Amino acid sequence: MTHTSRDGFTSTFGVLVATLGSAVGLGNIWKFPYLTGTNGGASFLLVYIIATLLVGLPLMMTEIMLGRASRSNAVTTFEKLAPPRQGFWKSIGFMGVAAAIFILAFYTEVAGWVFAYIFKAVSGGLDSTDPAHSKAVFGELVANPQSALLWQWLVLGFTGAIIMLGVSKGIEAVSKKLMPVLFLLLIALCIRSLTLPGAMRGLEFLFTPDFSKINAGVVLTAVGLAFFKLSVGMGTMLTYGSYFRSEQNIPLTATRVMFADLAVSLLAGIAIFPAVFAFGFEPAAGPSLVFITIPAVFHSMPGGSIFMALFFILTAIAATGAILSILEVPVAMLIERCGWSRKVSTLVSILAIAALGVPAALSQSLTANWKLFGLNPFDFFDFISSNILMPVGGIMLCLFVGWSFGRDKLMAALSNEGTLPNQKLVKILFILLRYITPLLISVILLHGFGII
Ligand code: PHE
Repeated sequence: MTHTSRDGFTSTFGVLVATLGSAVGLGNIWKFPYLTGTNGGASFLLVYIIATLLVGLPLMMTEIMLGRASRSNAVTTFEKLAPPRQGFWKSIGFMGVAAAIFILAFYTEVAGWVFAYIFKAVSGGLDSTDPAHSKAVFGELVANPQSALLWQWLVLGFTGAIIMLGVSKGIEAVSKKLMPVLFLLLIALCIRSLTLPGAMRGLEFLFTPDFSKINAGVVLTAVGLAFFKLSVGMGTMLTYGSYFRSEQNIPLTATRVMFADLAVSLLAGIAIFPAVFAFGFEPAAGPSLVFITIPAVFHSMPGGSIFMALFFILTAIAATGAILSILEVPVAMLIERCGWSRKVSTLVSILAIAALGVPAALSQSLTANWKLFGLNPFDFFDFISSNILMPVGGIMLCLFVGWSFGRDKLMAALSNEGTLPNQKLVKILFILLRYITPLLISVILLHGFGII
C-alpha cells in the first residue's frame, strides 16, 4: 500500500507551526485569562500546569502517534490499529467527531465576535474608557440575532475555504504565515502593557497563588482547560498526527508545542492583567473580560486604538488556526469513510456546524431560555465538550493504548522504529497511560461532578 496520494505536512517547521496553530487559540487569549482571573490566579495556574504535564502532554504524544501509525482519520485509525473483534474502540473516533462539531458550534461564535471587534476597533466604535460603553457595544452585537449569525457564518466560510485548499496548501501554508505574526503582535502588546505605571499589580495577581480557592470544581476546570488547550481527547491531534512526516520526532514536537502554547497563555496574561490593574478594572470579569474590559482598558492607554486593533487581529489569527484543526476532524473522516471530495466533505461539515451553531449564536437572544442541565445552548456546548467528551475521550485513549495497543507498538511508533534514543521516556509514558492518567482523569471527573 502506498501513501503517496495522501496529503500531509511537508516540513518539520510546517508540522510544528500547524500543530502549534491548533493548540494556540481562543483558549489562550479568551479562556485562560478569564479562568485564571476567576479561579484564584497563580494557584489555578499551578494546577493547570500539573494537569498539562500529567494529562495533556502524554495524550498529545499518544494521539499524534496513533494518527501517524494508521495514516487515517479519527475513526478509521481505531479500525486499523485495534485487534480483531475490538471494534468498539472506534467509538472514540465517533465521539471525537461529535465533540468537534459541539466545540465549533460555540467556538466559531466567539471567533465571530473577535472578527467583528477588529472592525469596531478600527472604525472607532469602541473608543471609550467606560466599560459601560463597551458593555453596550458587546450586548448589541451578541443580542442581535442577525449579526450574531452573520459573523459566525463568515468565520465558517473563511475557515472552510482554507480547509478546501487541503492540508499542505491550506492548513500548513496559512499556519506558516500567521503564527510568526501572532508572536510578534503578542510581544508588542506585552511590552505596551508592562510599561504602564502600576503594571506590577497585574503580575502579582497572575503569579501570587491563593490556595484557599482550590477545590474539586477548580481542579476539574483546570483539567478541562488542559484538554481544550492542547486540542486532545477528541481526535484533532490524532488527525494532525496522520499528516506528520515519518521521520518527525513526536515526543519532542509535542513537548515543544506544549511549552510554546503555555508561553502564549502566559504572554496573553501578561498583556492583559497589568493593563487591567493599571487602569483600575476588575480582573474577575468572566467570559466577557476580553470583549468588555479589554476595549475600555486599551482605550485608557496612549496609542490605545492601534493596540486594540492589534489585539483583536492577534486573537482572530489564534482562533483561525484552532478552527482549522477542529474542522479537519469531520472533514478527514468524511473524505476517507464516505469517499466524498474534500470540497463536499467541508461543505457538509460546515453546514452541520452552522445548524448546531444557530442555537449557540442566539444564546444571548432568542434561545437564552433554552436550558439543558441549567445551561443555555452556548454554555452547554462548551461544558459538554471540555468537561465531558474530551476527558472521557482521553480516558478511553489511555485505556486503548495502555491495555490493547500495548507497550511494544507504542515504543516502535514513538522511537521511529528504534532510531530515536527515547526508550526510558516511552516506558514512563506507558505507565502514565496505563494507570496514572486514566485514573487521575476519572477521579477528577467523578469528584468534579460530586459523584465521589
Ligand atoms: N486548543 C484550542 C484553543 O486553545 C482549541 C481546540 C480545542 C482546538 C480542541 C482543537 C481541538 O483555543
